[in-house]
Amino acid sequence: MRDPEDFNLNLSGSNPIVANRAWQILSQKFSLSTKKCAVERKNFMPNEIEIEKVLIPQDRLQQRISELGSEISEAYQNKDLAVVAILKGSFIFAADLLRAIAIASTIDFMSISSYANQPQSGVVRITKDLEESITGRDVLLVEDIIDTGLTANYLLRVLRERNPASLQVCALLDKSARRIIDLPVAYRGFEIPDVFVVGYGMDYQQLYRNLPYIAVLA
Ligand code: PRP
Repeated sequence: MRDPEDFNLNLSGSNPIVANRAWQILSQKFSLSTKKCAVERKNFMPNEIEIEKVLIPQDRLQQRISELGSEISEAYQNKDLAVVAILKGSFIFAADLLRAIAIASTIDFMSISSYANQPQSGVVRITKDLEESITGRDVLLVEDIIDTGLTANYLLRVLRERNPASLQVCALLDKSARRIIDLPVAYRGFEIPDVFVVGYGMDYQQLYRNLPYIAVLA
């Protein structure tokens, strides 16, 4: 470990939330007081502080997304593809996936939040609904990660009630070891172990979504 007295961190250019989070991490890690840690705001990469390892590097992500795009383009030829992405986590994956799909398709977004008093119920609150009807369309639900499966299972129920012509799931990451509800995942980017991942849209306390790769936090 570095000598705390020598620790001189440059935070210039970071936004205040990130800088504060970095400060919390450093304070805990080095048991520093504000007096002992000289923090300057310049060229700081706070996201790298807690990252234990890169689980899926950027090039592997892009390669796999390109493959998924080809598979989906083939499967949905002559269909009416409506991509439905679930915010926030899937926004980067959905953007790259859509660009890898070579057939006509639309994209719409749903935003959800869990009910704090019943997190294991799988019931979520829809905070932003779709803007277009999906009735009669071929819907592809796009998720960044499926963990317990509760969220996707609930959303599939909600979307099915709107009578799409078909309804399938595409998930970038599948943490099937944690599954509570069995769920058909038609398109899967990567199977991952039971570790906490961030990056490429996924967060820890709203941070790290901007990492271009998937990482495991220390
Ligand atoms: C993540 C992810 C899925 C859900 C999967 O969302 O985007 O929606 O968790 O978990 P489950 O399979 O156990 O239900 P999160 O709650 O982290 O919100 P976010 O997408 O806004 O970051």
